[in-house]
Amino acid sequence: MISEEEVDRRIQEIGEQISRDYAGEQVHLVCVLRGGSFFMCELSKRITIPVTLDFMSVSSYGNDTKSSGVVRIVKDLDDPLKDKHVIVVEDVVDSGRTLSYLLEMLKKRDPKSLKLCTLLDKPERRVVNVKVDYTGFEIPDKFVVGYGLDYAQKYRNLPYIGIVEFDD
Ligand code: IMP
Ligand code: MG
Repeated sequence: MISEEEVDRRIQEIGEQISRDYAGEQVHLVCVLRGGSFFMCELSKRITIPVTLDFMSVSSYGNDTKSSGVVRIVKDLDDPLKDKHVIVVEDVVDSGRTLSYLLEMLKKRDPKSLKLCTLLDKPERRVVNVKVDYTGFEIPDKFVVGYGLDYAQKYRNLPYIGIVEFDD
C-alpha cells in the first residue's frame, strides 16, 4: 500500500515539523508498544531538538483483527510526564478506543502539553473521537501490516505497509 521510500519521506517531514513546532523546547516521545516502536525509532532520528523516549504497552487486541473495546495497561511508563512536552507515538488509530483511553490517563499525569502522532489513521473506522496532531498517512478501512503493524504478531518487520487479504 505504501512503499518504504514513501514512508521514509513522510517520517522525515513529520520529524522536521515537530522540530519546528517545538523549537527551543525538548520533547518526550511515548511509544505505544509494540507497533509504535519502528515508527518512533525512525521519527526520533529525524527530530533535531532534544528528545527523550519512554515506552508503554496497552492491549486492546488479541491475535485478532477486531477491537475488543477492552484496554489494559500491560507495561506502564518508567518516567513521570509532569511538565514535559509529551508526544504519544502510535502505529495506527483505528476505532480510537485505545488512544482515547490512553490520552485521558496520561493527561492526569500533568504533562506541559500532550499530543498524538500516528503513522497511520483510518478515519472511516472511528468509534471514539480522538484528536490526532500528526498523521503519516490516512488510509482506507483495510487491515494492514508492516512498519510495526502485525497480523498475529507477524510481519511487523516489513519495511513497507502492506494490505492483508483474507479469504471469505
Ligand atoms: P483502536 O483502539 O481500535 O484504535 O486500535 C488501535 C490498535 O489496533 C492499534 O494500535 C493496532 O495495534 C491495532 N490495529 C488496528 N488496525 C490495525 C491494522 O490494520 N493492522 C494491524 N493492527 C491494527
Ligand atoms: Mg498498537
